[in-house]
Amino acid sequence: MTRNLEVLLTDITNHSALNNEFYREWMTRELTIDELAIFARNYGEWVKSFPDALSILLVTTDDIDAKTEYVKTLYSEMGYGNPVKVHSVLLNDFFKELARKMGHEGELNWERLQNTVELLPATRELIEGEQYLYRDRQMSFGAQLALEWQAYTMLRKLYDGARNYLPLWNDPDEFHEACEYFYAHIGATEKEHKEESLKAVKRYATSEESLARMTDGYHRHLQLIHNFWQGLYHAMSAVTEHSIAIA
Ligand SMILES: [Fe+2]
Repeated sequence: MTRNLEVLLTDITNHSALNNEFYREWMTRELTIDELAIFARNYGEWVKSFPDALSILLVTTDDIDAKTEYVKTLYSEMGYGNPVKVHSVLLNDFFKELARKMGHEGELNWERLQNTVELLPATRELIEGEQYLYRDRQMSFGAQLALEWQAYTMLRKLYDGARNYLPLWNDPDEFHEACEYFYAHIGATEKEHKEESLKAVKRYATSEESLARMTDGYHRHLQLIHNFWQGLYHAMSAVTEHSIAIA
């Protein structure tokens, strides 16, 4: 019964949530410090909010296997109980180090970003929309499936783009140390999450109607993610045009 959903998954890397103008920019050139600030603020907020979304998911489902899986993901998101390894903290550590290497020390610190860079509407919509989908007993399974299946490619692309800044580090070892956020995701754990989310969908797709609701959750989540990257791309383009104009 889940055949159609599985077909969608095999093609997820071509979805505009993963194949879009933001990634093209990020992967092909170095961003300016102002563009990086927009990215770090908005992506950082989504990453920081993700454990909250997972907690909602945990409350929404009764399925013991799915609940166990969400707890594992939540535990890893929260640095396995170590506050300095929480993913949003590791992410900001990368940006802090990057700003320092670019000669803009302190400019990408989370506290500063929160006070100086406005959150984009599409970022709020993604965070709120994700939580809305995770509150729905049926849609949540499809929404989580979309999240997990796009995550590996998302992190891989973000890491590939991060490598554009490697020459700023005199010691390449230190660059890799600064990349802990990316490495935490490009491993066996992420692959496991993908399989588990598909198993959950298969267990719950007991009728055409429930499958339709899950598929709806899947599409809606990917659309929110697509809108998020588009929002970032446009905000970055606006800042680039502005700096060209005043140059
Ligand atoms: Fe994470």
